[in-house]
Parts: sequence; structure tokens; C-alpha cells
Amino acid sequence: MKKIALALAAVAGIAATGAQAQQNYPNRPITMIVPFAAGGPTDVVARIVTDHMSRTLGQQIVIENVAGAGGTTGITRAAQSQPDGYTIMMGHMGTHGAAPALYPNLKYDPTKDFAPIGMAAGTPILIVAKKDLPASDLKGFIEYVKTNADKVNQAHAGVGSVSHTTGVLFDSIVGTKPTMVAYRGTGPALNDLMAGTVDFMTDQIVNVAPQIQGGNIKAYAIATPERSPALPNVPTTKEAGLGDYQVSAWNAVFAPKGTPNDVVAKLNDALVKALADENTKKRLLDLGGVIPSAEEQSPEGLQKLVDSEVARWTPVLQAAGAKAE
Ligand code: MLT
Repeated sequence: MKKIALALAAVAGIAATGAQAQQNYPNRPITMIVPFAAGGPTDVVARIVTDHMSRTLGQQIVIENVAGAGGTTGITRAAQSQPDGYTIMMGHMGTHGAAPALYPNLKYDPTKDFAPIGMAAGTPILIVAKKDLPASDLKGFIEYVKTNADKVNQAHAGVGSVSHTTGVLFDSIVGTKPTMVAYRGTGPALNDLMAGTVDFMTDQIVNVAPQIQGGNIKAYAIATPERSPALPNVPTTKEAGLGDYQVSAWNAVFAPKGTPNDVVAKLNDALVKALADENTKKRLLDLGGVIPSAEEQSPEGLQKLVDSEVARWTPVLQAAGAKAE
């Protein structure tokens, strides 16, 4: 009898410690894994929102860039981390939408292996090219790419990344197959685009907007129904004659599956407060980011989005002949 009482007391003690830990959460710095190189769109969105989130949580959020395999290396590491709220991640339409179609042996299921926290930013996609590429409009660019298919090269951030997924979609609609050049993120890819050592890419607005505004790269079109207020002179793909190419990406915060509900709630509260903060909103909007709706900022809304994105991208990528790893 005594042994059972002792065992029960021990279990109760552990449970109490666990509950206590959750109650005090966070009482040490949090790591956010960004699955691409520093300086790219996912890193930029992560640093902007965590800058404010850390103030609400009262703890530093340390960004750890873990690049590779189109973002799946970093997300796999994050998915397998302790579900205690001290390791979270910034995923996106590639890692949590397209990846299952391209990685048959993916070590995580985007729809099951995470505790969604909320969307951080919508990121419209642009078709951008090196400054001295001869074509002055999208029609001319498409002509150029098709005529010079054997020498044109297209940058992306690894199979399954947003730039790869949206790039494959663009190529399949246009009917071309440029040489694909993989980078550890579209931050480094953009450097080569500005240097003229890679010809074009499809990338998220928060990465390319400043360089378009600065005239350092060319933007042929934005693949959303409306123009971006941040880039009013860039035509939509519809206006530019490629209306079939409609695609936008998103970046969102996730924790590993099994993260306690009250920890998820604290992380979501900090994200929602960040996206309500005028300065944080301005930083995202100035880069052409789209502030998510209240539904998209919720864990339930993000779960619904991931479920629909995985279902959407699998047939699209298979039809586009995207090569699985
Ligand atoms: C990045 O941050 O480098 C991008 O999100 C990569 C991509 O998915 O294209």
C-alpha cells in the first residue's frame, strides 16, 4: 500500500512540476528555427514578428538558421525537438504545403506533426530577373526564356521551397525548362541575381521589394489578382498576359506536436499582439507583406490552411512534373 502511495505521490509531483513549468513559461530564451539562410524572406518575416513577440513573452527569441533540402532539414529538426515551447519554427507554403509531394520519405507530416501557432505574413510571389536581361516586359521575358532555354538559369531555394514550387509552376504554364540553380535560401539567390550570375526566379515580395524599388533587379509581374501597394508600378500577371499564373505564399509559426495548450496559447497571444502592433505591421507592409486575417492568425485557422495547401499542391506539382527527391 505504502509503495502505491509513494508512486502516486511521485506522479503527482512530476505532474505538478510540469504544470508549474508551463505556468512559468517562458522562463528562458526560446529558439525559433528558420529553415533557410539568413537574409531571405522567411528569415526577414521571422525577425520582424519575433522582435515584438519576445517583448510580450518577456524572453529573447533566438533565430537559428538551419537550411537544406528546401527547408525540410530545419523543419524536421524542429518537429523532433522537445514539445516544451522552447523550440518553435517558421514554416511556409513550401515546408508545410508542397514538401509531401516532393519528398516521399519526408520525416514529418505537415498536417499531423505540429502544433500550429498562427500565420505571420502572406507573401505574394513576383517574377524577377537580373537587371540586364534584355526583355522589358513579361511577354518579351517569356519569349526570351523559351528561345534561350538552353542557357537561361533559374534560382530557387531547394526542391519544395516556395521559389522552387512557384518556379516549377511558372515553367509548366509557360512551357519551358530552364536550368534550375539551388541555393540555401532566396537571400543568397538574390545576391547572385543582383550580380547577374543567375537569370531569374519567382520569389516572395518581402525579399525582393527593396531591390525592385532600388532598380537593382527587374520585376516583370506579381502573381496576385491586385497590384501590391508596396510596388504600384509592377503589373499583375493578368495585366501582363499570364493570368493563369496566380500564386501567393505565406509564412507561419509552428511548435512541435504535443506542445501544451497553454504554451500554444501564450505563443499565439504574442503573435497576435505582434501583428496588431503598428510598427510591426508597417515593417511587414512596407516590404509588401500581407497581414493575415484573425482566422489565419489562429491555430485552428493555420491547421485548416495547412490541410488545404497539402491537398492543393500535391496534384499541381505532379501535373507540373516536379521531380520528387
Ligand atoms: C527563404 O527564406 O529563403 C525562402 O522562403 C526560401 C523559399 O522557400 O523560396
